[in-house]
Amino acid sequence: MTRLLVRSFSISIDGYGAGPRQDLENPLGVGGPAMFDWFFHTRTWQQMHAEAGGEAAGETGVDDAMAAQGFEGIGAWILGRNMFGPVRGPWPDDSWKGWWGEEPPYHVPVFVLTHHARAPLAMKGGTEFRFVTGGILAALDQARAAAGGRDVRLGGGVSTIRQYLGAGLIDEMHLVISPVLLGSGEHLLHGLDLPALGYEYAEHVPGSRAAAHVFLRKRA
Ligand SMILES: NC(=O)c1ccc[n+]([C@@H]2O[C@H](COP(=O)([O-])OP(=O)(O)OC[C@H]3O[C@@H](n4cnc5c(N)ncnc54)[C@H](OP(=O)(O)O)[C@@H]3O)[C@@H](O)[C@H]2O)c1
Repeated sequence: MTRLLVRSFSISIDGYGAGPRQDLENPLGVGGPAMFDWFFHTRTWQQMHAEAGGEAAGETGVDDAMAAQGFEGIGAWILGRNMFGPVRGPWPDDSWKGWWGEEPPYHVPVFVLTHHARAPLAMKGGTEFRFVTGGILAALDQARAAAGGRDVRLGGGVSTIRQYLGAGLIDEMHLVISPVLLGSGEHLLHGLDLPALGYEYAEHVPGSRAAAHVFLRKRA
């Protein structure tokens, strides 16, 4: 049974999943990278950014195991258009191909929610960005079909996760609560009554650094 999973989604202590004023220089919003201190040091992240054929450095341990787990058994991803890039409104052309270079770290179909239609974009290494204008249910149907029995990972950003949470469609959510205060930005859980939506706390794992890994699950 294909599950819809959030993995390694970082939030600040005050609950933000992105800093304010995202743009080309600030993909995670202003101040947002501080939420990812736990991730930037992992071998998993370093491998994603190593030169082809180069040896990856980076720490192993709990944080790395958590980061690596997020890529296991995933047959398709769903992203919001702002996680895909800083371009807003109708696509001026097809030049924006994501933040991740020629070979993005997905290696499976990635369904990008947007109100602005665009042709699919095949990248090196098996990633294909497919733009979905039919809303969250259409994206989930298409991702499930593409996943071939594996799970679907909901990458973010904040607005996208909030919509799937509000509809009670996420099976499991791994949040990484980072020891930083952002003060403003995109708030993940404001106004969402998670217990009423069927979610419960499942597990907590202390990270290798100061972040805490927390798992929420949908009640059976
Ligand atoms: N903390 C983390 O671990 C983490 C992980 C991933 C991303 N992020 C960050 O989160 C931020 C992005 O989050 P965000 O909340 O600004 O945006 P987002 O969820 O990435 O994307 C929102 C946009 O996607 C499109 N969209 C969303 N739902 C749709 C629907 N139902 N139908 C059609 N289009 C829909 C709309 O774009 P259009 O109307 O313009 O087409 C909307 O403005 C970025 O800074 C990113 O780096 C953080």
